[in-house]
Amino acid sequence: MNKKTLVLALIGGAVIAISTALRPAPTAPEGKDDELKVLPKDISDEELRQVMHSFEVALGMNCGDCHTHSATNPDKMDWSADTKKKQTTIAMMNMVKEMNEKYFDVKGDFKENYLRSRYKVTCNTCHNGHDEPNPVVAIPVPEPEKK
Ligand code: HEC
Ligand code: HEC
Repeated sequence: MNKKTLVLALIGGAVIAISTALRPAPTAPEGKDDELKVLPKDISDEELRQVMHSFEVALGMNCGDCHTHSATNPDKMDWSADTKKKQTTIAMMNMVKEMNEKYFDVKGDFKENYLRSRYKVTCNTCHNGHDEPNPVVAIPVPEPEKK
């Protein structure tokens, strides 16, 4: 390495170090970033809002039940931060997609099928406004008395 290359390499290193230090925290307090697992990364804000609101209604939950505050700024939400409920929700989204593909022949993108009401089984089918669906097995009704 000659002297000139060395100087350039040092400057380059310094620039990278400074830009790393200045980079904002890797969170997207307003809106979305690229952490999405099931929804398409290019989903519009309007469609994202519709999906999230439908989860609230189907489960009787609020945004804050699944999402958490920013670790660096507690006044803001960190929408892409991981939580246990978010992980469960992602598993449920995949489950809904698979059930509809396998048993009801509705194939393709989750977001499109979900928002266009093409799915036969959806969050609300089981949850019906509650976080935990009713696990009680239907009890057979007694035989009607013969007259
Ligand atoms: C039942 C749980 C649940 C509720 C309630 C919920 N969300 Fe979400 N939200 C998720 C999950 C899961 C994802 C990630 C989906 C994915 O990865 O495809 C997400 C993603 C997001 C994102 C995109 C984050 C990113 O990484 O790009 C935003 C913004 C968001 N939600 C806002 C809201 C708002 C605002 C509300 C209330 C109106 C809300 N959410 C309610 C589970 C929920
Ligand atoms: C086939 C029925 C079924 C469907 C469809 C379904 N869920 Fe669930 N879900 C369950 C059951 C059952 C549980 C409770 C599991 C337990 O108690 O361990 C659950 C639990 C959850 C939880 C955790 C609740 C808590 O209080 O911790 C979340 C969040 C959730 N579901 C979100 C969703 C979303 C969002 C959808 C649609 C994308 C969905 N579920 C579709 C059956 C379903």
